[in-house]
Amino acid sequence: MKLLVTGGAGFIGSCFVRMALREKHAARVVVYDKLTYAGNLENLQPVAGRPEFRFIQADILDGNAVESVLHEESPDAIVHFAAESHVDRSIHSPAPVIETNFNGTFTLLEAARRFGLKRFLHVSTDEVYGSIPEPLDADENYPVRASSPYSASKAGSDLLALSYFTTYKLNVTVTRASNNYGPYQFPEKLIPLMISNALDDKPLPIYGDGLQVRDWLYVEDHCNAIFAALEKGSPGEVYNVGGNCSLPNIEVVRRILNAAGKPESLMTYVTDRPGHDRRYALTNEKLTRASGWRPQMDFNEGLAATIQWYRDNRDWVARVKSGEYQRFYELNYTSRS
Ligand code: NAD
Ligand code: TYD
Repeated sequence: MKLLVTGGAGFIGSCFVRMALREKHAARVVVYDKLTYAGNLENLQPVAGRPEFRFIQADILDGNAVESVLHEESPDAIVHFAAESHVDRSIHSPAPVIETNFNGTFTLLEAARRFGLKRFLHVSTDEVYGSIPEPLDADENYPVRASSPYSASKAGSDLLALSYFTTYKLNVTVTRASNNYGPYQFPEKLIPLMISNALDDKPLPIYGDGLQVRDWLYVEDHCNAIFAALEKGSPGEVYNVGGNCSLPNIEVVRRILNAAGKPESLMTYVTDRPGHDRRYALTNEKLTRASGWRPQMDFNEGLAATIQWYRDNRDWVARVKSGEYQRFYELNYTSRS
């Protein structure tokens, strides 16, 4: 299979590309990525010299560039990761999030429809369901009730992608995954930010009371679920992808500090995020029934491997935290403390 992977220089997309080439899920992989602050060619360094790999720096909002690559490469499928992926950034500055996540997805879908593409996998998130009250777990029929500009942009793009199946019979499948963690994650999200601050002996900023619940999914488990959905998923269907690991944020932070050998006195409670979803929880049963996929990674083991990766890759962390990151950190955290 030949794959066109948008956002393949980001955290999850680059893991998918490394696995696709390492485990021979694909005969050719073309990454299409704008290289925003979150895109990083270092993430693709392990596959950079492979003849089956090509990198194209371009914007998914550029319809001509998308059409050119479809005609040049004739991929069997687009796997669409490219997005502005951070809730806090979407609160400070929603415009690029709506542009990339909604209009960018529209541009890709239009190009795919005109080209007659055989398969389009849209990578989405459980955040489209909004906060899920206890004791429910959302299945794929749970109402879409997004809370942040980020999650609303993903919900909109999910519905748009599904409309291309209903209306034009484009072979679209949507996956909705829970919170990912693992190596190469940009240190703006909870786990890598807390690991990075802990390793630097800096305060760990916990929003509100820290009792918000997230389901944690190791990034390789997520990528295996996407391979499963590509191979065994049905057109027009949505598949949840969860890690079977629901934890309150303060518990995650405590485990990070314990595993890193740092004191709990680094935990600092700061002003809550506006519109903060209290709880995400979902069931995976549909994807397991369709493909046999299940998450494999134990959370404590995955966390230990992730902490070790950040310890071993201090140069990567230093490079991604220089420049723009510092400006975002001040914007997001200075007024909170
Ligand atoms: P990321 O922020 O690490 O990477 C996003 C990538 O998209 C970057 O390489 C960036 O350069 C690229 N990009 C952004 N705008 C672009 C544009 N206009 N044109 C081309 N490329 C562009 O994101 P991630 O955490 O790897 O998430 C990937 C996908 O998975 C997203 O669609 C996200 O919504 C979804 N998702 C993420 C999580 C999570 O926990 N991180 C969970 C569920 C779903
Ligand atoms: P995040 O990683 O931003 O993912 P999402 O908001 O998409 O679930 O945040 C995960 C949880 O951690 C969420 O409840 C917000 C919380 N959080 C903090 O308490 N402090 C932080 O500095 C960050 C980034 C997140």
